[in-house]
Amino acid sequence: MQVKAERKMCKINVPRLKRMMVVGDCHRLQQVFVNLLDNAIKFADLDTAINIRVEEAGSHFKIHVEDTGEVVDKKYLPYLMDSFYQVHPSGKGSGLGLAIAKKLIELHGGRLTITSQDHKTVATIVLPKI
Ligand SMILES: Nc1ncnc2c1ncn2[C@@H]1O[C@H](COP(=O)(O)OP(=O)(O)OP(=O)(O)O)[C@@H](O)[C@H]1O
Ligand SMILES: [Mg+2]
Repeated sequence: MQVKAERKMCKINVPRLKRMMVVGDCHRLQQVFVNLLDNAIKFADLDTAINIRVEEAGSHFKIHVEDTGEVVDKKYLPYLMDSFYQVHPSGKGSGLGLAIAKKLIELHGGRLTITSQDHKTVATIVLPKI
């Protein structure tokens, strides 16, 4: 991911994390982060920051992956996590990354949401704490 980001001169900012404990399959959760970061890098403008932010919200953690760049018109937002859906089918990628991420997060008892406005797209994962 770091190499992909550097090709676009993007910097990935990861917060200094407190210990976060969730129940789950670390490889599948890693896959979710790879899918979200891959999108953030792909749709970010050159030379921008990609920010990962973590919040504690009661019994849940919220993890946000935020990029500055291409945004999604709100009329397309409901379809982003459908399998094979791409706003601009380009022959690159298959439109499966978010569908897989959503399924994996839901299997961990969590939720994945996307907002996109004012040049920023934010993918938010909500996962239950142990
Ligand atoms: N961070 C983002 N900024 C702008 N658009 C996004 C972002 N993430 C996803 N999208 C839109 O949602 C679509 C679906 O994303 P998804 O990750 O499922 O597929 P993909 O990235 O096109 O292909 P794949 O993940 O299979 O390589 C993308 O094609 C793009 O149109
Ligand atoms: Mg993707």
